[in-house]
Amino acid sequence: MTSAMSTSTDIDLKSFQFILTSVEDHIGIIQLNRPDKLNAINMPLMEELVKCLTWMDHNEDIRCIVLTGNERAFAAGADIEQMASATPVDMILRDQFVYWDRIRKIHKPLVAAISGYALGGGCELAMTCDMIIASETAKFGQPEINLGVIPGAGGTQRLTRAVGKARAMELVLTGNLFTAQQALEWGLINKVVPVELYLEEAKNLAKTIASKPPIAVRMAKESVLKTFDTSLESGLEFERKAFYLLFASQDKNEGMKAFLEKRQPEFQGR
Ligand code: CAA
Repeated sequence: MTSAMSTSTDIDLKSFQFILTSVEDHIGIIQLNRPDKLNAINMPLMEELVKCLTWMDHNEDIRCIVLTGNERAFAAGADIEQMASATPVDMILRDQFVYWDRIRKIHKPLVAAISGYALGGGCELAMTCDMIIASETAKFGQPEINLGVIPGAGGTQRLTRAVGKARAMELVLTGNLFTAQQALEWGLINKVVPVELYLEEAKNLAKTIASKPPIAVRMAKESVLKTFDTSLESGLEFERKAFYLLFASQDKNEGMKAFLEKRQPEFQGR
């Protein structure tokens, strides 16, 4: 059984078994790659994903990360086979959510590009990302209730914050799936596009973000996420300190100077 999380950032991108990775135009792209199981999330996949995300987070050439699956499935949930005979003690010792906690701490923006199924842990993984671009064929849902359990990787919390109590309650209690269009109308996702465009659209969004000053992007992400676990007073205080801190960055000088000189800024991430 895999249990401990590797902290190594020295990795061989070609060595992964369950993910495919590439880097283009300052964006890191990670594709979940367990197609015969609809990208069901098992421990080795999660371990590889976190290892790669951690490496990308530390790589200065990468400024934004796109996480995707394939046309049929982003991910159809946590691997049911791996949980079917598990006891509570097995689950505690397995400590799988340590990986999820690590994803939550990634500093760089994460854009999920979703087509097909994003169910259970797959929907939760998408919601752990900062923005979601979906194809018209995407199907979201938290069907864990049908297995005699409930979402365990943040579904009850993140879905409720995104779509409100009444809708989240219905979705979690019935396990009903919902469409990309519904997800858009309810504020869970950013955009719905034809299936042939979902990855391109996610990359375009990532490239736009990658063109912005990286330290300001990092502070902006932290400040927006602060909303979810703090009072308005503390959130405003956090935002103000982050705002002041950015006045120490070279990119702030460059951004403001470029505006006054009527030219495009060149951000260095310093
Ligand atoms: N875990 C393990 N294997 C899975 C899986 C999962 N979550 N989802 C799909 N698979 C496997 C199937 O067992 C099948 O494998 P075999 O070919 O070896 O039999 C393969 O992927 C293809 O799946 P189907 O034949 O079922 O494909 P389908 O098109 O008929 O149905 C589906 C697609 C409706 C998504 C269906 O696969 C399904 O209902 N999957 C389970 C969805 C689910 O309940 N997810 C929640 C998991 S629990 C969880 O995520 C807990 C948490 O919060 C962390």
